[in-house]
Amino acid sequence: MATPTQELHRLTSYAPPWDSWDKPADDPRVMTSFEPNDIERLPWFYKRYTAELPRIPLPRELPATEASTVEVLAGTAAVPAGELDLAQLARVLFLASGVVRTATRPYAVWLFRAAGSAGARFPIELYVAVPDGTALPAGVHWYDPEAHELVQVGPPPSGEAVTVVSTGVPWRTGWRYRERGYRHIYWDSGTMVSQLLAAAASAGIEAELYTRFPDAKATALVGADGVHEWPVAVVALGGGTPALESSGPAAVGAVDADPVEFPLETAAQRAGDRDELGEPWPVGDAVDVPLRESPPVETVVLSRSSQRRMDASRELPGDLLRTAFPAATRGISVPHRIVVNGVEGFEPGVYRWPELARAGNLREELYHVGLDQGLPRDAAFVVIGVTDVSALDDREYREAQLAAGLVEGRFHLLAYALGAGASGMTFLDSDVPGLLAEQVDTLLFTCVGVPEYASKRGGAPGKPEEFRQVTPRAG
Ligand SMILES: Cc1cc2nc3c(=O)[nH]c(=O)nc-3n(C[C@H](O)[C@H](O)[C@H](O)COP(=O)(O)O)c2cc1C
Repeated sequence: MATPTQELHRLTSYAPPWDSWDKPADDPRVMTSFEPNDIERLPWFYKRYTAELPRIPLPRELPATEASTVEVLAGTAAVPAGELDLAQLARVLFLASGVVRTATRPYAVWLFRAAGSAGARFPIELYVAVPDGTALPAGVHWYDPEAHELVQVGPPPSGEAVTVVSTGVPWRTGWRYRERGYRHIYWDSGTMVSQLLAAAASAGIEAELYTRFPDAKATALVGADGVHEWPVAVVALGGGTPALESSGPAAVGAVDADPVEFPLETAAQRAGDRDELGEPWPVGDAVDVPLRESPPVETVVLSRSSQRRMDASRELPGDLLRTAFPAATRGISVPHRIVVNGVEGFEPGVYRWPELARAGNLREELYHVGLDQGLPRDAAFVVIGVTDVSALDDREYREAQLAAGLVEGRFHLLAYALGAGASGMTFLDSDVPGLLAEQVDTLLFTCVGVPEYASKRGGAPGKPEEFRQVTPRAG
């Protein structure tokens, strides 16, 4: 019998005739009682608290680092051990999730964050649980991504490490993508975590990622309700086991004025819940890569965006792919395929790295499986995370989606570090096996290519840059 996440995957898989992001699957369990993309119901960009809670402004001057982003991701950077003080915590939170750009639209000022998010929905919240006895203010804090402040929502937890908990808000992305938003929460969280881990590593701060943790405890710790907001990932900073044990009730905020519940997502999430803390993710051995020089992580994060237009007439250097693939997939067991369109020294086709599995010019097929979006066709190469959903239990399903998001985030950083551009990409599930010549379930696409324009650099904490979004090339 199919598990709840397998059911969710099936019911949120796109197949022809696909014509919109928000058409509901024909199944009574799918939520149909709301109008997607209704601007009148645009969800809040982040959580709100009505109670007067203690606020701690975070340093806005971010400590600079020197290590090359490529070397940080490849694991070859020689970074001295850093101290997790308030400025370093501020840097890590901001480079993972701070508001860096704004776009003024007729109905709202849209907030763009340091890490990308499918459809710019940004359904992730961050909390920091600080036990007594560290250099940081003890307590459980919500990170206000716009004001760049900590808002204390709970008393100090018991446990060892300063612990970042990321949560997902299904309604914020479901407003546009319905139940497929479940996947988006894990993709976006993985993308965000890739930047959080890179920011920590570049400052010499140990950071361990946990995706198996006691869900009920983590939910209570941050004051989430487990339905409209639930924990997705935990990162222990500075060594020691995560501090997930609450010592008192947390303030309850609201994710929106009137959030819609998606029962399929609630069931999928509940089915994967655990009571025990598992092992942290393996970091993976350092990898030897041909290109090592690049700007530091903070420079790359602020120069990244999702490239809307790529120049299909130009190739990327072969060494960029030879560097990015091993560095982006370091320590990750989820398989990733590469479809090469234009990379020097690589025959176009599908690679089960490093073997060429299917030769050919696949640009038009990529356009089709990329839901008639130009980016995968115009990219120099497209990364595709794959799995066998039937072999995954409900927790492993979450982890596979998050791993694909993490790899997307790393490819993204590596692309910008090496002068290329990138964008995450969703896809027509039914037709990816034909493209890859392999019977697989698809997790996520990342397009990497030659940028047609330079993105506007993100602003400093509390000072986001106003920008106009470039529109993707039609057809
Ligand atoms: C997981 C993921 C999937 C995405 N899918 C698409 C997509 O299908 N098409 C697209 O044009 N952009 C896609 N994007 C890019 C987002 O639209 C972009 O991240 C968002 O607008 C925020 O802008 P920024 O990344 O420039 O900060 C995706 C991004 C992520 C992280």
